[in-house]
Amino acid sequence: MTTTLKVALLGAGTVGAEVARILRQDQDVLREKTGASLELTHVVVRNTEADRGPWIDRGIISADASAAIADADVVIELMGGIEPAKSYIVEALSAGKDVVTGNKALIAESGAELNALAREKGAQLFYEAAVAGAIPILRPIYESLAGDNITSVMGIVNGSTNYILDKMDREGASLDAVMEEASALGYLEADPSADVDGHDAAAKAAILATYAFGTPYTIDQVYTEGIRSVTAGDVKAAQENNQVIKLLAIVNKTETGVSMRVHPALISREHPLAAVHGAFNAVFVEAENAGQLMFYGAGAGGAPTASAVMGDVVTAVRQRISGT
Ligand code: HSE
Repeated sequence: MTTTLKVALLGAGTVGAEVARILRQDQDVLREKTGASLELTHVVVRNTEADRGPWIDRGIISADASAAIADADVVIELMGGIEPAKSYIVEALSAGKDVVTGNKALIAESGAELNALAREKGAQLFYEAAVAGAIPILRPIYESLAGDNITSVMGIVNGSTNYILDKMDREGASLDAVMEEASALGYLEADPSADVDGHDAAAKAAILATYAFGTPYTIDQVYTEGIRSVTAGDVKAAQENNQVIKLLAIVNKTETGVSMRVHPALISREHPLAAVHGAFNAVFVEAENAGQLMFYGAGAGGAPTASAVMGDVVTAVRQRISGT
């Protein structure tokens, strides 16, 4: 008989709604891949009255995270922010439940502590979705490149700012004009600071450095400068030198240790990262033996980010069930 595993979803925004859809729509595929039936049994949200779309039955919605965590086998945290997300993840891991999250801010702040707790409790904690949305990057760095010496990771890991800089480059517009338009189109949060001031990219840089170099790093160790000071004149001057301005997260080994930084950078139009347009992300990895590798794709959005979340869920379930 096929084992049924209960899944609790904490947070049902754009990504959560897509995770719910995949759990329902791709039930057979997920069963084939894991050997288990994955059933979405709890969706925890603050506003239990709001309509959560066609894939979330009203009967599984509640505001009681503790009850959901206690009953579930796998917990998916997509609330974002530090609290109460951290407390819920601690609660789940302490009870030996596997946890999948896309919470970059939390992992960049408390990843080491949460990973240690997971190990102590025999639980698994995965967060591929926290860096560059759909792009598989943490597992390739940590597993596929485990036998190599990674020397640097350089990425466009914030889609909103890449969209803004790309539009400035294409249209010669000012930062304010593009931000106004991006905001009207819903591409920017009401408070765009996490994107525009580089904090979102800095969180991702800390996580990338932790995976690339095998030592835990936190967001406050990353030098962070956003794109607010980039002018239309800067963009034009770059064009005249066959360059483009991109907000880069760069982590690399130096003679004295590891350097981690996020800042607008001038790159040659010949560099592969110069060809990353719109809200797309890309991560350029250099390793001693593998040489140069580029990972490219959708860095945000419901279905793309849900793909990364579900990859982690399947991995957690496979390992839990068969140890493979
Ligand atoms: N605000 C982020 C971005 C969302 O624009 O890339 C994905 O982390």
